[in-house]
Amino acid sequence: MLLDFSSLSKFRTEISALGDFFFHGETSLFIEDIINKKNQHKVFAVFRDEKVAGFLILSTVLDESEILEVAVSENMRRCGLGSELMEEVFGWCAKNEISQIFLEVRESNFPALAYYKKYGFAENGLRKNYYRDPLENAVLMSKKLF
Ligand SMILES: CC(C)(COP(=O)(O)OP(=O)(O)OC[C@H]1O[C@@H](n2cnc3c(N)ncnc32)[C@H](O)[C@@H]1OP(=O)(O)O)[C@@H](O)C(=O)NCCC(=O)NCCS
Repeated sequence: MLLDFSSLSKFRTEISALGDFFFHGETSLFIEDIINKKNQHKVFAVFRDEKVAGFLILSTVLDESEILEVAVSENMRRCGLGSELMEEVFGWCAKNEISQIFLEVRESNFPALAYYKKYGFAENGLRKNYYRDPLENAVLMSKKLF
């Protein structure tokens, strides 16, 4: 579901704990900025047993969106939760007339590359040595919605 302001405040600790592990502390910074109204990113979340099992952060400028982060709890992967998040994002983008979605992903992140390809994202280029710890290229991907 797309989290409104009060749900985001309620679940921010759980989302940050899940994301910061994978994204080196960036998730809590994104969420803090949303709460403090420093950006208008959207946060989608999926729940199991009333706990956050996955989330996705989407940034939008005019009619283009970017997936900034997506993660599912390690012990709940390959159960369709990532797919649920992506379907919700596509639904939101359709309603909001978003024409294209962009993202970048580590070159070695095969599960994520497979996930994005399954949902129709195409590779458009490489950003050399973009990531640190460890140093790695970013694959640039995008999907046209209309
Ligand atoms: C990428 C990620 C969000 C996918 O979430 P998920 O809940 O496991 O995804 P789903 O179960 O809905 O799988 C959807 C599709 O993704 C692909 N996929 C997901 N994990 C995969 C894996 N380990 N190997 C190959 N393909 C994979 C498959 O095509 C899968 O469809 P299928 O099950 O019909 O084969 C999850 O692996 C994750 O949290 N990874 C760590 C964080 C991350 O890498 N984020 C992206 C950074 S840019």
